[in-house]
Parts: sequence; C-alpha cells; structure tokens
Amino acid sequence: MKRIGILISGRGSNMTAIAEAVREGRIPDAELALVVSNVESAAGLARAQELGIRTFTHSHRGYTREEHDRAMAAELRRCEVDLVCLAGYMRLLSPWFIREFENRILNIHPSLLPSFPGLDAQKQALDYGVKFTGCTVHLVDEELDHGPIVKQSAVPVLSGDTVETLSARILAEEHNTYIEAAALILSGKYRIEGRRIVEL
Ligand code: GRF
Repeated sequence: MKRIGILISGRGSNMTAIAEAVREGRIPDAELALVVSNVESAAGLARAQELGIRTFTHSHRGYTREEHDRAMAAELRRCEVDLVCLAGYMRLLSPWFIREFENRILNIHPSLLPSFPGLDAQKQALDYGVKFTGCTVHLVDEELDHGPIVKQSAVPVLSGDTVETLSARILAEEHNTYIEAAALILSGKYRIEGRRIVEL
C-alpha cells in the first residue's frame, strides 16, 4: 500500500476528490494517510475529519518557513507517506522540504503552465483573452509552479465567462486530473527525462 499525504489551506475539494478516488480504488493500492493544514479554520480540515482521515494542523505563524516545514515533514514521516499532494496549500515550501521529498511532491495549478503561474490564474487567463486554459499537475521543484508536468487538461474559455464560472469549469477537471496524476506517480510507471515525464 502506498500512502498519500495532502497539504491544504482552504476548501479542500481536490483533497476530497482524492479521498473518494482512494476509497473507490481509482488510485490503486493507495491510502490517504494524513491531511495537513496550516490554517486551523480550513473547511477542508473539517471535511477530512468527517471522512475519518487523520489530520494535523500546524500554523506557520511564529515559525520560519523551514521550521514550519520540518514540523510538517516529521508528521508526514511518522505516517510513512510516499507521496505529498499540495491541494490549495497557499504557502511556498522551503528548499529543505522539497529536497526531503524530492520528486515525491505534486502540485495542482489552475492554468496550462507555463502560462499564468502564481495567484489568480483563472483571472489572468480571462484578462489575457486566451480561448483555452485548464489545469496542470506537476512535480514540485524550487521554482513556483515550475517542475516537470505530470498531467494537463484543457478547458475552453466561453464568451460569457466570469472568474467564477471559469474557475468552476476548471475545478471539475482539476479533480480528475489530480487523480490520474497521483495514480501515475504512485504506479512508478514513468521516467523523468529533463523536464519531460515519459509514461512507460
Ligand atoms: C484549486 O483551484 C487549485 O488548483 C489551486 O487552489 C485551488 C484549491 O481548491 N492550487 P480546493 O481547496 O482543492 O478546493
């Protein structure tokens, strides 16, 4: 059994989608070992508890980035986590944490990277006027929204779209895309060639 840990700061819809996929066997031979939040009031945290998933809350306030990350990593190690999924985790990770779980951290971003990294990706896409945007699941390296791409899904931008309607259309794709990406990484059936993830 492979063990997944998920880091959240908010709503937790991607976390919930992964939890359901694990329960239904759509991520084979995997269990959701731990949900970590840096925000005590995160709705996703309450949801995880309802689902009976072990949770760990550790506010970043009053700690350096690395101190905070070391506390999270200790708990992830205690739970013997094989894969760390960032799902709306709104903090940069320290280089120490990224090295500690090298090529074992996934992030989801609501655009087709390398377009529109950073905050408000859906608004950036709308303002730019692209006709397609989407979501990207990538391995995390030390640059923001940058590591090798595991999976992407394209989503059309429609003429009447607002940030809300576009975000909702992307979010539905995010859930499927994250599940596929986590399943691939846990299966080990890929190799990394430079920036390319080649499925075997
Ligand atoms: C998603 O749009 C994700 O792409 C971004 O933050 C949002 C998190 O949503 N990184 P949720 O907490 O998973 O519902």
